[in-house]
Formats: sequence, C-alpha cells, structure tokens
Amino acid sequence: STFEFIIVERQNAVGIIKLNRPKLLNALSFGVFGEIGAAVDDLEADDAIGCILITGSDKAFAAGADIKEMQPKGFIDMFNEDFTSIGGDRLARCRKPTIAAVAGYALGGGCELAMMCDIIIAADTAKFGQPEITLGTIPGIGGTQRLTRAIGKSKAMDLCLTGRMMDAQEAERAGLVSRIVPADKLMEEALAAAEKIASMSYPAAAMAKSAVNRALETTLAEGLAVERDLFRSSFALEDRSEGMAAFIEKRKPNNKNR
Ligand code: HXC
Repeated sequence: STFEFIIVERQNAVGIIKLNRPKLLNALSFGVFGEIGAAVDDLEADDAIGCILITGSDKAFAAGADIKEMQPKGFIDMFNEDFTSIGGDRLARCRKPTIAAVAGYALGGGCELAMMCDIIIAADTAKFGQPEITLGTIPGIGGTQRLTRAIGKSKAMDLCLTGRMMDAQEAERAGLVSRIVPADKLMEEALAAAEKIASMSYPAAAMAKSAVNRALETTLAEGLAVERDLFRSSFALEDRSEGMAAFIEKRKPNNKNR
C-alpha cells in the first residue's frame, strides 16, 4: 500500500488496517487519521470485503492523539484542521461491520477510535482510558459520549476525570468490550470473528448494524419501528430466501450479497 503510518491488507473477505507507528505507540497524528479515512474509503468501496478489522501492535492499539503534534496548536488550528471530520469519524460512518482488535494501550483518541468500531475484541493485555484531563484537555472524538453510552455515567466520569486506565477485565465487565482473548490469540480470534461476519449476507449485516446503532440514537418505540421495517425489508433479499432454504435443506447458504 501507499500509506506511511498504517498497513492495509486483505485477507479473504476481511480488510485489515494495522496502525504502524510502533515507536510512538501508534500516536494518532493528523496524518494517521487521514490515512485511516482513506483506507476505510478503499475497503468500503471494495465488494470483496465484508468486514474491516483495525488493530495496532502488541504494546499499543494507540496511545492517543499525537501530543507532540498537538502541543503548539491553538484553538483556530484545531478548529480549522478539525479532527472529527477526518479518519476517525469516517470509521464510525462505515456501513460495513468493523472490529477493533485491541492489545496494550487504547488511550485517549486510541480508546475513541476503538469505540467507533462495532465490536471491540480485547487481548488480556488491553488497557483503556481517557487521560486527556491529565494534559489539561478533554476527549474530542467521542470519549465523553460513546464511553458514557457504553459503560454508564459513573464509570465514564471516573475515567474522564481521574484519567486512570481500566484493564481488559474491567472493560469487559463494564460492557466496553465484547470478549477478552489471550494476547497471543488476538489476531487469530479477531480474524475468525471478522471472517464469520464477512461470510454473512452483506446487506443483512448492514441492516443489523444500522438497527443496533439506532438503539443509541432514538427512543425504544422508534427503534423498534426501524427494526421492524428493516426486518421486513430483509424479505426482499435473495440471501434471505436462500438462507432459509439452505437451513431447510440442511446445507450452507450461498450468499450473493443481494
Ligand atoms: C505522542 C507518544 C504518545 C502520544 C506515547 N508516545 N504516547 N507520543 N503522543 N499520545 C511516545 C512517547 O513520547 C515515547 O517517545 C514513546 O511513545 C514511548 O512511550 P513511553 O511513554 O516511553 O512508554 P511507556 O513508559 O511504556 O508509557 C506508555 C504510556 C505513555 C503510559 C501509554 O506513553 C503515555 O501516557 N502516553 C500518553 C497517553 C495519553 O495521554 N493519551 C491521550 C492523548 S490526548 P520517545 O520519543 O520519548 O521515545 C488525546 C486527545 C484525543 O488522545 C482527542 C481527539 C483525537
């Protein structure tokens, strides 16, 4: 690939984005965010890809936004450069299912990047936190919002106000991560989950993703109405009639993503 700060690979139907600034614990500069956005554009446009997996190194998923890059900036720089309109938010707006495979530090913008994914799978070495307060700032791309929705007010306040880290066990108990796996099995397990998802009917997966995300945006009655409409819509899919026929005929479905 032509990227400087990330490595993009395709493994079967899974697009893998690996953050690749290991010496700086994958600190997220504007350049990194821009490349993540470009990679998501590429992978989302690629019909062969059914799931996107984002990961870092053994030591760090990402230790946050690049502090050395941010330090000299003022309000107008941050206003003009606008972190939120690039990379990270692009990942949150992706229609394809996304998984963050997190080992080591996922701090600040790193935790926020993981939370933009649909699923977080954590190695037992993972550590999550929003330490921005220790730098005299606050989270800027979802740390006060997605974290609060994921783990509730008291724990989100605890993390955002003290800057402390939580380990993988605490993160799983709190509902931030879907599962914990041994560190040396992280990529194997995350890839297996991603390939499983990619084997499903893509439009059905996109409907499921969209419906779950509605739950965070709307009332129960509205969310149930959206779900019901999408459920009915799925009956227009060839993959739906094929999926049910395959069950009845005791064979694997042949999904055509249509
Ligand atoms: C720039 C960073 C960095 C970061 C680590 N490094 N985190 N550089 N930005 N966020 C660099 C260090 O300066 C060091 O470079 C090298 O990576 C290795 O880090 P060490 O600190 O030596 O490692 P260690 O002692 O193991 O400590 C690990 C750590 C610590 C606990 C994760 O690095 C740390 O506290 N990092 C900052 C975490 C943080 O505050 N994140 C929030 C950022 S604000 P040298 O050159 O010295 O070897 C943020 C705002 C988001 O994310 C809002 C919008 C995006």
